[in-house]
Amino acid sequence: MTASMVTRLVKPSTAAIADAARILATGGLLAFPTETVYGLGADATNGAAVARLYEAKGRPAFNPLIAHVTDAAAARVLARFDADAAQLAQAFWPGPLTLVLPKAAGCAVSDLATAGLDNVAVRVPHHATAQALLAAFGRPVVAPSANRSGHVSPTTAAHVLADLGGRIDLIVDGGATPVGVESTIVACLGEPVLLRPGGTSREGIERVLGRPLAEPPAGMAVEDSPLAPGMLASHYAPRTAMRLNADHVEPGEALLAFGASPAKGAEKAAKALNLSAGGDLIEAAANLFSHLRALDAAGATRIVVMPLPHKGLGEAINDRLQRAAAPRV
Ligand code: TXA
Ligand code: MG
Repeated sequence: MTASMVTRLVKPSTAAIADAARILATGGLLAFPTETVYGLGADATNGAAVARLYEAKGRPAFNPLIAHVTDAAAARVLARFDADAAQLAQAFWPGPLTLVLPKAAGCAVSDLATAGLDNVAVRVPHHATAQALLAAFGRPVVAPSANRSGHVSPTTAAHVLADLGGRIDLIVDGGATPVGVESTIVACLGEPVLLRPGGTSREGIERVLGRPLAEPPAGMAVEDSPLAPGMLASHYAPRTAMRLNADHVEPGEALLAFGASPAKGAEKAAKALNLSAGGDLIEAAANLFSHLRALDAAGATRIVVMPLPHKGLGEAINDRLQRAAAPRV
């Protein structure tokens, strides 16, 4: 039903934000920028709107969604914070950290959005447009990344339009998203567990907690669904096959470089892009998805990726690259 609608593209003016809040209030769908990636927003309390969101995304309905709110006080209406969660919220909100917490009594987020779980993922984004929209709407907004399921996360309005044009009401175009990878997800349902590396570094979180994060028990990592593990393992996949940790390029391959010295044979690459010539992992994260998209469109036999250090945002980047390279089912 959504495939034939006209998707309007607007800049984030006061009038556009008011219009966007009205769309949410009437059960519509819109994409908006956050500091991490563009989100596909719906009224978290409206099950029908959430169902339309899953449909527009082509997302398996068992995959729960993050509820976005303006501040920690609004998050406390939805979820119960233990001491660790309170400290993390204090240290990192607003910002690219999502907390999975027990639902509070009377939590208004629809069960469809939490996939029937008794916990809920909550996040307070830092981006001015996201904040303005949440404040104007006044209720929690569920927002997965605004891509079709299985495609890479969008960091520009053009990416969103390519994936979801004709399927959603509105795209608020706030330019490129500054962080470029999704939020870090930590579950505080006991000992804090890292469910997804992302825009807030593990080291920063462990410094605030004063101890290491626990590893998720088997089957609990967010992309690990018992129903469709293969599909979710390749969640961030371009269409072109990939080869990671490459030190050389074969003719016909496309190169995703990192750092000052290119891989051997780089001059023969079908197309070459550098995540960060200066070796800056923050710049690399911001470029990751748009570079992958551009290389995927180059008609290369394979996308080869140079190694990146596994520290700070490098952990999230390597995680996304591994998923992108995972065998498809
Ligand atoms: O940066 C972000 O987090 C972006 C922006 C738009 O805010 N959103 C985002 O949402 O990445 P999404 O739906 O693409 O990824 C959220 C992940 C999913 O893998 C989902 O399974 C997991 O969070 N998740 C959501 N609620 C959960 C819960 N209650 N327990 C465990 N995992 C959960
Ligand atoms: Mg996503």
